[in-house]
Amino acid sequence: MKPDVSSSVLIPFVISLLFSFLWATSAHTHEEFLQCLTIHAGNSTSSISQVIYTPVNSSYSSVLEFSIRNLRFSTPATPKPLVIITPLHVSQIQASIKCSQKHGMQIRVRSGGHDYEGLSYVAYAPFVIIDLINLRSINVDVENGTAWVETGATLGEVYYTIAEKSRNFGFPAGLCPTVGVGGHFSGGGYGTLLRKYGIAADNIVDAQMIDVKGRILDRESMGEDLFWAIRGGGGASFGVIVAWKIKLVHVPSTVTVFTVNRNLEQNPTKLVHRWQYVANKLDEDLFISVELSAANSSQEGGRTIQALFYCLYLGGIDNLLSLMQESFPELGLVREDCSEMSWIESTLYFAGFPSGEPLDVLLSRTPLTRPDFFKAKSDYVTEPIPEVGLEGIWERFYQKGTEEASLVLIPYGGRMSEIPESAIPFPHRVGNIYKILYYVSWEEEGIAESERHISWIRRLYSYMAAYVSKSPRAAYINYRDLDIGTNSKKGNTSYRRASTWGTKYFKSNFNKLVHVKTMVDPTNFFKNEQSIPALSS
Ligand SMILES: Cc1cc2nc3c(=O)[nH]c(=O)nc-3n(C[C@H](O)[C@H](O)[C@H](O)COP(=O)(O)OP(=O)(O)OC[C@H]3O[C@@H](n4cnc5c(N)ncnc54)[C@H](O)[C@@H]3O)c2cc1C
Ligand SMILES: *[C@@H]1O[C@H](CO)[C@@H](O)[C@H](O)[C@H]1NC(C)=O
Ligand SMILES: *[C@@H]1O[C@H](CO)[C@@H](O)[C@H](O)[C@H]1NC(C)=O
Ligand SMILES: *[C@@H]1O[C@H](CO)[C@@H](O)[C@H](O)[C@H]1NC(C)=O
Ligand SMILES: *[C@@H]1O[C@H](CO)[C@@H](O)[C@H](O)[C@H]1NC(C)=O
Ligand SMILES: *[C@@H]1O[C@H](CO)[C@@H](O)[C@H](O)[C@H]1NC(C)=O
Repeated sequence: MKPDVSSSVLIPFVISLLFSFLWATSAHTHEEFLQCLTIHAGNSTSSISQVIYTPVNSSYSSVLEFSIRNLRFSTPATPKPLVIITPLHVSQIQASIKCSQKHGMQIRVRSGGHDYEGLSYVAYAPFVIIDLINLRSINVDVENGTAWVETGATLGEVYYTIAEKSRNFGFPAGLCPTVGVGGHFSGGGYGTLLRKYGIAADNIVDAQMIDVKGRILDRESMGEDLFWAIRGGGGASFGVIVAWKIKLVHVPSTVTVFTVNRNLEQNPTKLVHRWQYVANKLDEDLFISVELSAANSSQEGGRTIQALFYCLYLGGIDNLLSLMQESFPELGLVREDCSEMSWIESTLYFAGFPSGEPLDVLLSRTPLTRPDFFKAKSDYVTEPIPEVGLEGIWERFYQKGTEEASLVLIPYGGRMSEIPESAIPFPHRVGNIYKILYYVSWEEEGIAESERHISWIRRLYSYMAAYVSKSPRAAYINYRDLDIGTNSKKGNTSYRRASTWGTKYFKSNFNKLVHVKTMVDPTNFFKNEQSIPALSS
């Protein structure tokens, strides 16, 4: 279609008019919103003004940016919140919910800020961020093997605090210590212990949350349906989760890790192909994941495919070597590849810290590597991919502009296959050999760069269609991907529209999620581009 000259002259003018109008309305709304907060925040020991940031506060930008992990959502064009609230008390969350409803603001709840599509800090309507960074206490009850964890805590803080109390307890959650437990547990949450103990959401025994009416609920008062929904259905559709009670899991005093690198000169096609036949059938104490990426080859200027096999074994080297000899001799593992350590040291190892780092690096909320721009997608594999299929992936890695791309293959089986599909909303259980994370990142700013990388990963994803799960083509909600379908940008949706992405994340559990949503938030107040729809709205 040929653009018409008169409208292209007029449009900028109309847009700027529109913006000044919107700005004036929202400034007005936000004044009233602030007044409302002061009235409703109650008499907690700290005054609410200490936890409110608006653009006039000099620290507004640093508070906003502190937990942004994807620079795609930190550009001048990214919509910014009118207000950021960093509550110290539950009463301040209750006031924020009440006042947001009264003054027509949307809420974004942020824990660790690792959402792949920025949903915890970006919205396309006037909005406030409730950033839980100050609510992160952790209470470990060693006697009962449980812990209460406030949702502003990170995985690193959880692992560290458990290890302080006992080296024989751990928790089956993700590898990256700066991930927040608010988003991670409510979306599932897997790590190196998943084949032994399932995912984080499988190991939650109670929760405290605030609903749309501002009520503080626990498992008993929220009822089993809502408690079911927040363990894997994504927290953001149902309210603000304040704390989780988790069941700790047993870990031995000694675990073994290895990372072995095989590049194309050592024929990883056969190895990766073979890995697909063993990865989900191995002893459940054994987790071997594969990361595929492009690397420089030994020939000048040449490219190769590198396959990193990395492993956690819940036991010592000797047992691991004999297990590997039995089940995956093709990898050629030798004793020198392996290191014994404590489970808590293994969390540092998988997070990428050099050996010998003190454990308290787990407490840092600043990631090991600087945030960059990235796009990710996910798939589930139920039948081994033939060698020719794998070779097609390598070809795409040799294309220009894929320097920072990787595929991570995460093995299932073990405990994952024993838990029924409907136990919690996370449905990806028996029948899956492994999950794929596709990931591409870049450092250059600008739309053109961004589009180039995103279109590369989308082409790879469409190539993979033939080899992965079908009807639905399943996806993992914690690897948030707005390409698979969305509600409207403002969160408006219908059951039908939301089903396109909802059945990919939740399969048939989607219907029960809609049912729960309709019961607990019938006016669809808690909404975003991928929130569960309420039938009445
Ligand atoms: C570097 C990196 C490594 C990762 N590694 C893993 C991994 O090993 N395993 C894995 O399973 N996943 C992993 N992920 C994905 C991660 O699990 C998800 O991005 C997860 O949702 C992040 O949680 P968060 O609290 O940090 O995110 P946020 O961006 O704060 O929140 C994510 C979503 O949850 C909502 N939410 C957050 N807190 C609450 C709350 N208290 N109440 C209600 N809703 C809430 C937000 O509104 C948003 O919709 C990784 C992500 C990154 C960026
Ligand atoms: C706050 O404290 C004052 C005096 O102690 C009391 O009169 C008022 O009702 C309290 N307000 C709230 C919201 O609790
Ligand atoms: C932000 O600025 C307002 C107005 O000056 C002030 O009342 C508030 O205390 C400031 N917030 C913080 C967290 O300092
Ligand atoms: C263990 O749990 C029981 C029952 O909930 C409780 O009474 C007891 O106080 C707990 N133990 C500790 C050390 O908190
Ligand atoms: C790979 O090679 C390119 C160009 O040949 C070079 O710029 C780059 O630094 C190399 N990367 C690594 C990790 O060695
Ligand atoms: C959202 O849905 C309501 C009810 O269907 C409708 O009235 C409203 O116009 C919609 N808003 C947007 C932005 O689509």
